[in-house]
Amino acid sequence: MAVLVTGGAGYIGSHTVVEMLGEGMDVVILDNFSNSKPKALERIREVSGGDFAFEQVDLLDSEGVERVFEKYDIDSVVHFAGLKAVGESVSIPLKYYHNNITGTLVLLETMKRHGTKRLVFSSSATVYGVPKTVPIREDFPLSATNPYGMTKLMIEQILGDLAKAEPDFSISCLRYFNPVGAHKSGLIGEDPTDIPNNLMPYICKVAVGQLEKLSVFGDCYDTHDGTGVRDYIHVVDLAKAHLAAIKETGERKGIDYFNIGTGTGYSVLDIVKTFEKVNGIKVPYVITGPRPGDVGSCYADPSKSERVFGWKAVYGLEEMCRDAYNWQIRNPKGYED
Ligand code: WQD
Repeated sequence: MAVLVTGGAGYIGSHTVVEMLGEGMDVVILDNFSNSKPKALERIREVSGGDFAFEQVDLLDSEGVERVFEKYDIDSVVHFAGLKAVGESVSIPLKYYHNNITGTLVLLETMKRHGTKRLVFSSSATVYGVPKTVPIREDFPLSATNPYGMTKLMIEQILGDLAKAEPDFSISCLRYFNPVGAHKSGLIGEDPTDIPNNLMPYICKVAVGQLEKLSVFGDCYDTHDGTGVRDYIHVVDLAKAHLAAIKETGERKGIDYFNIGTGTGYSVLDIVKTFEKVNGIKVPYVITGPRPGDVGSCYADPSKSERVFGWKAVYGLEEMCRDAYNWQIRNPKGYED
């Protein structure tokens, strides 16, 4: 019985596959390399010492997806595959809706046809929109502030309706906060295709001189130092949460939703200062105006995940900063040769 990991060559997917292989799980990676590179697959084998099956398929290719389910005995699915750049989703919404929603529908219809009823879905804290208060609990109101976030919200709705219609399905929606860092080997990590939108990869590029300085988007928020506060979680902690979620889907029917965060918020300047301290390097920055759509504070109440999964994030900010930089200096051009 295998676990199908869609988008398994990507940042979070590759870290999750490494943990799965470490637990002796049979893994099939499905990826179209739209936001990942074949070298990531070699690195997963190198890091884990294990092996997996790989199928280069786009979820929009329903015949290709069908062939994968015919070829392998798939017991459960971890669904990462999807476009995920907030800013890009605003400029090309139709591509985001088609890719993320239609791709998920093809996957779900194929799962249903083959009797595969366990699913862990890569959702996002972005489904909370602009939270009224923090820390955020799973029963908070949901809304979307951009097409990317709306695709996550729509897929959660689709999964809820599926769970009602098909009571034998077992579905977990994991709402990630801010994944950062990399496996301690420095062999796998975040490999943004262009200038990074997210804070930590941007800081890493500044630290190695590929970018001149960091723009701190605003210092007038209602936070301890005025800069934006987020719940950063080490990508290996996040990966381990997926294994706990897969196991839990084997013990329950229906759908449930889980915040995957540390429960601790850090500001932009907290990140900069910690990064400089643990890596012994300066990160030049300038304070600019706030980024449209940003909120001041966003961090999780992770107690439900801890209670239900018996999972808790263990890596602190220093490891996140050290491991992020370690990946960057070992792979100045990411997975490019
Ligand atoms: C973090 C903080 C910025 C860049 C995004 C997506 C979310 C999820 C995680 C997919 C904020 C500040 C950032 C920079 C800065 N992705 N910042 N200068 O916006 O919390 O969440 O990534 O699910 O959907 O919205 O992450 O890393 O972009 O920003 O000052 O160059 O860093 O203002 O306070 P964000 P981020």
